[in-house]
Amino acid sequence: MSNPNPTYVLGMGSYVPSNKVDNHALSLRVDTSDEWIRSRTGIRERCLAEDDQACSDLALEASVRALKDADIERDQIDLVIVATITPDMSFPSTACLLQHKLGLGKISSFDLEAACSGFLYALDVADGMLASNRYHNALVVGAEKMSSILDWDDRTTCVLFGDGAGAAVLSKKGAGHELLGFQCGADGSDPTVLHKPAGGSLLPASQDTLNERKHFLKMNGREIFKSAVRVMERAVRELLEKHEISMDEVDHVIPHQANVRIVESLAQRLEISMDKFFCNLENYGNTSAASVPLALDEGRALGRFRSGQLGVLVAFGAGLTWSATLIRF
Ligand code: UT7
Repeated sequence: MSNPNPTYVLGMGSYVPSNKVDNHALSLRVDTSDEWIRSRTGIRERCLAEDDQACSDLALEASVRALKDADIERDQIDLVIVATITPDMSFPSTACLLQHKLGLGKISSFDLEAACSGFLYALDVADGMLASNRYHNALVVGAEKMSSILDWDDRTTCVLFGDGAGAAVLSKKGAGHELLGFQCGADGSDPTVLHKPAGGSLLPASQDTLNERKHFLKMNGREIFKSAVRVMERAVRELLEKHEISMDEVDHVIPHQANVRIVESLAQRLEISMDKFFCNLENYGNTSAASVPLALDEGRALGRFRSGQLGVLVAFGAGLTWSATLIRF
């Protein structure tokens, strides 16, 4: 399939903190085991940021690598979007903080919040803004310090997540992987299946919200599992139908890295061999908005994606949100 006006990925970069924490280390803190975590999720270890490392610091490392990979001068970037649910602070946006840390011009910079689908949502938004011709080179980042919102006494959630960042430089001109199509959606009918209840305008911080541990991520894992498989399957089918591509033509799927059992169920429902799915969640856990760019960048570095091959990026997250992107390597 061809797209007369694709967005090119000029370069990519990713970063994870050096502090690796394996399942055994977590079992010393909560009632869990390496066996349970590995068999239920596929995760062996995750990287956790230092106390003084904020989301924008993780984003900075990934962005520096992406800008170098794209071989682009900083003054050519005219748009920054950071997808995150763990911003440095409620406001100003992490994108503004990143813009300053990178020494970029006084350019349009904002955060986008679509949880684990955030990076793919941001690709869609950047594609539209670049197509308007009012922006020329965008820096799109997925960055998360999930460790900052986890309840480290809750074994049902704290074992699942990790910290990290992935970044891409996008343009309508140049050369690189082509972003050919996008399919985003959301269903806000039950926000409580995955949320951080307090700290917003509905439930501002108070002694009660602190006592009730409402500033941490809460999740109904089983419900999210079922929804994840269903919405990702639908997003991929709708994306491929829109672009008249058959399932057989897909060479690679780079899914959100939450749980290998979710990926296996998705592969089964799409009738795509697991060999075509790129997974690295074993080493990083679920890094939310950073997960797809981290996997994409690692797959590229490993030489997994050959020029001309077709890939699908797909994610789901709190909201619920979902998103799929078609990419020609
Ligand atoms: O980006 C989106 C983020 N969220 C997700 O993707 C999560 C999607 N959901 C999942 O990945 C899975 O549902 C989980 C990994 C969270 C849980 O796996 P599960 O197979 O659905 O387990 P479960 O929730 O049905 O729990 C089974 C048992 C329970 O014990 P009982 O009630 O059977 O006695 C849990 O209390 O496992 C227990 N359990 C644990 N045991 C040891 C839950 N967490 C742990 C743990 N270690 N860390």
